[in-house]
Amino acid sequence: MNQVKVLIIGAGNRGQTYANYILRHHELAKVVGVAEPRQFHREKIVQSHNIPEQNIFDDWKEVVTRDKFADAVIIATQDNIHAEPAIAFAEKGYHILLEKPMATTEEECRLIIEAVERNKIYFSVCHVLRYTPFTQRLKAIIDSGTIGEIVNIQHLEPVGYWHQAHSFVRGNWRKEDESSFMLMTKSCHDLDWIRYIMVTHCRFVSSFGSLNHFRKEKKPTNASKRCLDCAAEPECPYSAKKVYLRFAEKNHKSWPVDILTSDTTVKGVTEALRTGPYGRCVYECDNDVVDNQVVIMQFEGNKTASFTMTGFNKMAFRKTIIFGTKGELYGDGKVIKHYDFLTEKTETIKVDITDNPLLAGHGGGDDGLMNNFLTAILKDDPNLILSDPQDTLDSYLMVFGAELSRRNKEVVDL
Ligand SMILES: NC(=O)c1ccc[n+]([C@@H]2O[C@H](COP(=O)([O-])OP(=O)(O)OC[C@H]3O[C@@H](n4cnc5c(N)ncnc54)[C@H](O)[C@@H]3O)[C@@H](O)[C@H]2O)c1
Repeated sequence: MNQVKVLIIGAGNRGQTYANYILRHHELAKVVGVAEPRQFHREKIVQSHNIPEQNIFDDWKEVVTRDKFADAVIIATQDNIHAEPAIAFAEKGYHILLEKPMATTEEECRLIIEAVERNKIYFSVCHVLRYTPFTQRLKAIIDSGTIGEIVNIQHLEPVGYWHQAHSFVRGNWRKEDESSFMLMTKSCHDLDWIRYIMVTHCRFVSSFGSLNHFRKEKKPTNASKRCLDCAAEPECPYSAKKVYLRFAEKNHKSWPVDILTSDTTVKGVTEALRTGPYGRCVYECDNDVVDNQVVIMQFEGNKTASFTMTGFNKMAFRKTIIFGTKGELYGDGKVIKHYDFLTEKTETIKVDITDNPLLAGHGGGDDGLMNNFLTAILKDDPNLILSDPQDTLDSYLMVFGAELSRRNKEVVDL
């Protein structure tokens, strides 16, 4: 095989990102088919990848009625449409790149892993953080033994105030019954990442969290239902006018404005704010997922970790401190600072994440993930996929356990 033949299942934001990667990397892969119900998004892939008529579908279900005609599928449908296609394509023998979260129930996650192992396919969930140059550099330092044995990890996910409002108050991940709980939709990346750095199994989890701010009772008395005609708007940091029109005014055409509308001009975005979900007052939405959550974890070997997710900050890279028996590491996605206990000196290491500005997505993680998945198939090298199926399941059990703990206010024994 000299090129992986790929089907895109779900050509929304993420499906297009992966398809665009393939456009730039024909030495690795070629998109040979697409399934997407929305015509505008489907056509984008059809045109840019020259997809033949017989390989264009409205629904992934139509694809599995055909004999296998590609090597791999990229499943980038919404969270609640992951399990069914993943199992169906695994049974057909396709290699699978599956968007996170793997699935939204523990049972579905287990069924996916069983199908993957039964059919012996390559399988990777898009935990892009594992694949960033930053993580790989950090991991190399840890693996070299420089900081000794890891005893504790502190990890912060600063979602960002307007990103919280965009995705988790007004947007696709605002309601648990339409997608999943916040720790799953956003922070499954982080628990997976902590698990990757720790290497050992997590034994106990405990969690607290709530929807603190984006509630009707926090609405200013003079606020309206929509930001375009709101008297409180000038004082509101979550104003949809502020969040979106500044992008449109700069002629920015991609995320987040392309989520609102395919017409990303000021006129198009203004119209979307007037009529669509993203123009709603953040205190008048039908959101129910938390806006702050903490998780504490006990790993095998008496190692501990704590994780904080909050929507009340400047949108930034995650920040982590790793405490080892011989030294300490601080990282913020771009810079690593290593303090050594013997020398009492701090070394600062800058990580180059800008080799290709187009690939800035997730600090280079989108690029790394795609490269490793496609190369694993081409070279038949499973080691390039940085999480085997059981490891992946393990991370999800941590997420389900932590959420159970938050709800029941108890420590969960994994
Ligand atoms: N890895 C990451 O860091 C990351 C980042 C953002 C989102 N995500 C995840 O990626 C997934 C997709 O998110 P998105 O923002 O691209 O969403 P999106 O809504 O833009 O895209 C999903 C697409 O699936 C299509 N679809 C719906 N039903 C379908 C069907 N039956 N067959 C084929 N296609 C169908 C929709 O029309 C839509 O275009 C989600 O699960 C999300 O949580 C991952």
